[in-house]
Amino acid sequence: MVEVTITVNGTPYTRKIHPLMRLLDFLRDELKLKGTKEGCGEGECGACTVIMDGKTINSCLVLAASCDGKEITTIEGVGVDELHPIQEAFLEVGAVQCGYCIPGMVLSAKALLDSNLDATETEIKEAISGNLCRCTGYQKIVEGVKLAQAKMKESRGEICDSGRG
Ligand code: FES
Ligand code: FES
Repeated sequence: MVEVTITVNGTPYTRKIHPLMRLLDFLRDELKLKGTKEGCGEGECGACTVIMDGKTINSCLVLAASCDGKEITTIEGVGVDELHPIQEAFLEVGAVQCGYCIPGMVLSAKALLDSNLDATETEIKEAISGNLCRCTGYQKIVEGVKLAQAKMKESRGEICDSGRG
């Protein structure tokens, strides 16, 4: 067993774990954060996407032991007090069908927009290209990310305007 401390959604968790435990299982089984989904289990579908230190990763491919000292964001850490603009936008455009891919989609979109709010449609498509959706045909999801982008830009503008006060 190895001891790790991994910060998840702002809270540090210290656990003794099997050295081969996947981050996906650490999140779902140790921490009971079931929002991170398992699809393929081999890095192909993106259902298990989380953000680690600002970048998306497939948590099915990463050993929890290698995440000691890292900061992870899961879907439970997004839209805690009120829906995140990406979640709002997905609802508004009807981007959610069965929902299985959505936690990973939201996190991929969030990682992109947090690092580049001016992302082009091509960059949006690239950012979610590792997230498979068997329901929506992707168009509504891309529309949702673009709407979220507009909402986030608007609120950034409001913050700047009020800053000028
Ligand atoms: S479950 Fe990890 S990529 Fe499919
Ligand atoms: S909404 Fe069903 S897999 Fe994407």
